[in-house]
Amino acid sequence: MERIYLNDGWKFTEKFDERMVRRNFDESGLKEVRLPHTCKETPFHYFDEHVYQMVSGYRRRLFVPEEWREKRVLLTIEGAAHESTVFLNGQKIGEHHCGYTAFSIDLSESLRYGEENILAVRVDSRESLNIPPFGHVIDYMTYGGIYRDVYLEVRNPVYLKDVFVRSEFTSERDAVLISEAALNEETQGYVIRQSMRKKGETQSVPLGECKAEAVTKLSFPVKNVSLWDVEQPALYEIKTELVWQGRVLDKTVTVFGFREAQFRRDGFYLNGRKLKIRGLNRHQCFPYVGYAMPESMQKRDADLLKRELGVNAVRTSHYPQSHYFLDRCDELGLLVFTELPGWQHIGDAAWKEQAVENVRDMVRQYRNHPSIILWGVRINESQDDDGFYVETNRVARSLDPSRQTGGVRANKKSSLLEDVYTYNDFLHEGDNRGCEKKSAVTSDVTKPYLVSEYNGHMYPTKAYDCEEHRVEHALRHANVMDALVGEEEIAGGFGWCMFDYNTHKDFGSGDRVCYHGVMDMFRNPKLAAAVYACEQEREPVLEVASSMDIGEHPGCHRGAVWIFTNADSVRMYKNDSFVKEFRREDSPYRNLCHGPLLVDDFIGDALERREHMKPAQAEKVKTVLNTVARFGLGHLT
Ligand code: GAL
Repeated sequence: MERIYLNDGWKFTEKFDERMVRRNFDESGLKEVRLPHTCKETPFHYFDEHVYQMVSGYRRRLFVPEEWREKRVLLTIEGAAHESTVFLNGQKIGEHHCGYTAFSIDLSESLRYGEENILAVRVDSRESLNIPPFGHVIDYMTYGGIYRDVYLEVRNPVYLKDVFVRSEFTSERDAVLISEAALNEETQGYVIRQSMRKKGETQSVPLGECKAEAVTKLSFPVKNVSLWDVEQPALYEIKTELVWQGRVLDKTVTVFGFREAQFRRDGFYLNGRKLKIRGLNRHQCFPYVGYAMPESMQKRDADLLKRELGVNAVRTSHYPQSHYFLDRCDELGLLVFTELPGWQHIGDAAWKEQAVENVRDMVRQYRNHPSIILWGVRINESQDDDGFYVETNRVARSLDPSRQTGGVRANKKSSLLEDVYTYNDFLHEGDNRGCEKKSAVTSDVTKPYLVSEYNGHMYPTKAYDCEEHRVEHALRHANVMDALVGEEEIAGGFGWCMFDYNTHKDFGSGDRVCYHGVMDMFRNPKLAAAVYACEQEREPVLEVASSMDIGEHPGCHRGAVWIFTNADSVRMYKNDSFVKEFRREDSPYRNLCHGPLLVDDFIGDALERREHMKPAQAEKVKTVLNTVARFGLGHLT
């Protein structure tokens, strides 16, 4: 079944006009736009969130051929911020109350066949809406507009509404492939058939078939599968077909990975192997266009995380993100912790009902991605609310028995209804421990524990801050990462955050930017990015943290010079004369594979060679000179 993308040919207005839903509306005052679209392009910084708060309108002509009359025509809007009402030929046909999940509407009954139809969408991006994440302050901008793809599907009258695939292992490489295939309506005489092939291969293996029901449960043993892993993320395509009297009437291809992802008391296990989670948090925003970036840029962020920053995991803070991003995480073997939309605030009963609906949509829409290893079912950093969170946990577990739940909190020893205690640990201040002990935080030490954020507001850093500040920023990331690796009982952590982002007036540096990223808003790496990059071993990294210009430092004291590298050793030369070799095992960071190396010698044997000093004398003078260079004459140790 092909998708017909409706990304081109839209007309837009910043002020929704009720008449624009009608067929005979004069479109000449509307602006031509393409999707993904932001309702307002913004400056880089110093702008107010009111600029994108509006009730905007989108309108598009849609010619519907006569042949579609016998079909089901489904419209899907992948993401519109934040509340949408959809009209077809003047009639309201659907609404959706979440800016971060997709929604589909069956247009079939309302379409005019063999002629042009008018599709219109009213999009409300006001922050006064009584839906998540609104209701209090939020440390990120929420933007507006139809910012993800819109497409049509033309399907058989009886069609596969949803296919959920998971697996259970019977031995290391053998599994049972378990699927639930839901039809749009109950029916008789249909058969569901499945086959499987490795992605990229042409040969499919038939799995089997059975009689179709409203929800058909299929389960087939599969032997000797290649595993989806962080190193080699093998993907399979599971083809599910709806067959009637030998004819295939509908089909869905689900990209799937066989893997066992499990948080245990002492950490995270992927395919039975303990793996320390080394991740970063990602928002979905970009400069100028807010959320409105296409497939290529969504995928590029995943590439940057895996290939340039070298992390093995990402948290999609604080909402479900583009499927393109997730698809790429699947392909790259990048683990994902995804969560429902929200930030600190829990609203009234209607608000909570919508949040539960958001969990339902999130799990249904994202549960086939092998990269997702954990559902976040608490509003980020909200207070305990057992009634509410019993329900979000129940919904996630009932729709996906294959994944555990977590829920990000900022408080210790809170009510643990989830499988994993996920906590934002901002203990580190530069000169103290890198993280809390698990036992100091969790309310049940027998359950798994994961750090969902660290650093961030503890040390905002601009890409163009002075060297000492940027070095301190990088070292703080190294300090926490090192501490997390040292804690056997902690599954790992996600640094705050991948890149700088625009934010509300209550946060950030007064210019509506939170400079919390290890990259800037354009994804240019700051020094701290190298600390992450060093932990991967695919690409060589060598970043000298200092330009060694004395004028950059107070009192012209160069301070400590650090080398970030994943090399086994680095040899330093001064004017082509060898000074010293710094080895990986010299790093004071004992837990990291490639911790920062401290440069403690700028002289080497130059005093003996060039000044003809005796070895003992040279050693003493060298110590003095190196100490002066680092601390200054007034601060000699
Ligand atoms: C956390 C919050 C994040 C971000 C971060 C800044 O409390 O969850 O969204 O605001 O602080 O460090």
